[in-house]
Amino acid sequence: MTHALKTPDSGQKSSKALYGGTTSRRITVRDVAAAKERGEKWPMLTAYDAMTASVFDEAGIPVLLVGDSMGNCHLGYESTVPVTMDEIAVLSAAVVRGTKRALVVGDLPFGSYQEGAVQALRNATRLVKEAGVGAVKLEGGERSAHQIELLVQAGIPVMAHVGLTPQSVNAYGGYPVQGRGEEAAQQLLRDAKAVQDAGAFAVVLELVPAELAAEVTRILHIPTVGIGAGAECDAQVLVWTDMAGMTAGRLPRFVKQYARLRETLGDAAKAFADEVVGGAYPAEEHSFH
Ligand code: KIV
Repeated sequence: MTHALKTPDSGQKSSKALYGGTTSRRITVRDVAAAKERGEKWPMLTAYDAMTASVFDEAGIPVLLVGDSMGNCHLGYESTVPVTMDEIAVLSAAVVRGTKRALVVGDLPFGSYQEGAVQALRNATRLVKEAGVGAVKLEGGERSAHQIELLVQAGIPVMAHVGLTPQSVNAYGGYPVQGRGEEAAQQLLRDAKAVQDAGAFAVVLELVPAELAAEVTRILHIPTVGIGAGAECDAQVLVWTDMAGMTAGRLPRFVKQYARLRETLGDAAKAFADEVVGGAYPAEEHSFH
């Protein structure tokens, strides 16, 4: 089914808007579907702890992903591959506790759903029951359709993820752009349709040419969430440590840094250390008598 994007109402923002709206209850997948109907764009960020999640929640970010990118950004692994269900469950629960409004999506890590639909259901159920997430995400298009179908039948909303799927880094031998060339583009379209047909409520498009992502966004009636997929997606996601300038080293070209937290935090640590060494901290007002 093809849905034409509607132009958002000019002028005043809808009170139902995912970002900037006034609804204070938790966002649900129905709100996400309604945003696509309205032609409304929305932001998504990753979060891995309660405190950071509360900042994003207060800023009005409607959807927070407890991504397996925690492997690289939070847990000190070299990729997402080693991340475990236990790690995702603990950090997802923290993000849920730190938020009041955001829809929290828990990522299913590598090895937690590839065996088949029953394994996927067992692990997704754990994230819903133990951590309290409102949805789960898993990687793969046609190859993951069975898993998505069973989860959705069981009442667990699923965000799919196609294009570059970082859990396959060892097979790719890196992080190459996907969907280039006619054959690859056709496969990406088949993948996107397969996850929609399986019942996914949204689909992440990672590292795909902007024109192809725009076509997928036009064809699908579920929202596309782009990362390195151009401006035409319904939503955009960034890993929060990249977005806020916390990540060290070279960043992918699609990342825009909106702050320089790494520098700010380093400066604060040095100022504290200098005052401790110099005897300026603690001062009288920080002492008890
Ligand atoms: O794990 C993650 O953070 C992700 C996003 C980059 C989409 O999958």
